[in-house]
Amino acid sequence: MSDSFRIELLAGQDRAGFTSGVEPLDRYLKAQAGQDMRRRVSNCFVAVPDGAATVAGFYTLAAASIPVHDLPDDQTRRLPRYPVLPAALIGRLAVDQGFSGKQLGATLLFDAMLRALRAEPAVLTVIVDAKDDTTLAFYRHHGFQPFTARPSSLYLPVDTAAKLLR
Ligand SMILES: CC(C)(COP(=O)(O)OP(=O)(O)OC[C@H]1O[C@@H](n2cnc3c(N)ncnc32)[C@H](O)[C@@H]1OP(=O)(O)O)[C@@H](O)C(=O)NCCC(=O)NCCS
Repeated sequence: MSDSFRIELLAGQDRAGFTSGVEPLDRYLKAQAGQDMRRRVSNCFVAVPDGAATVAGFYTLAAASIPVHDLPDDQTRRLPRYPVLPAALIGRLAVDQGFSGKQLGATLLFDAMLRALRAEPAVLTVIVDAKDDTTLAFYRHHGFQPFTARPSSLYLPVDTAAKLLR
């Protein structure tokens, strides 16, 4: 099985057999992701093994904003006093069980950070909502910090990610 992937927008790739172990995520990819893209509420990027057309993993990315007071002072000290700051939201991220443990989840996360970094509208930070402890642990493992006011939401400033990506 190939361990090399291309990551591209969801289009006609085969997602019928996608199984991450989290049924709502699988159902979202199969039934909802395309519609969300057409309605411009969220983009879905899929990882496809080289030489294949089957989705091995995916994530969604959408523009978002966060109240300035949600970030700790050390993150905002040098920023203008705008009430809200620009963010990018990773709404969902999942890897097919046949590809787990091959760094594909991490690769998808880095791809999302890169797209946020390169986006033409400015993005200060990437945010995620952790639906359970497993998700929380995955994002903490990759340097995301919980918001003090709502610890199931986490953030990673794109500047910090850029240093990690170098
Ligand atoms: C969580 C998930 C995306 C991980 O994908 P994966 O491709 O198996 O993980 P990777 O191989 O990329 O792991 C990368 C690193 O993250 C770590 N990691 C993976 N899952 C982790 C978890 N739940 N908690 C903490 N660390 C985790 C790995 O140990 C690895 O660490 P290393 O680089 O230091 O060796 C995948 O298991 C999945 O899709 N789960 C079901 C859906 C889900 O829970 N999504 C969460 C986000 S919505």
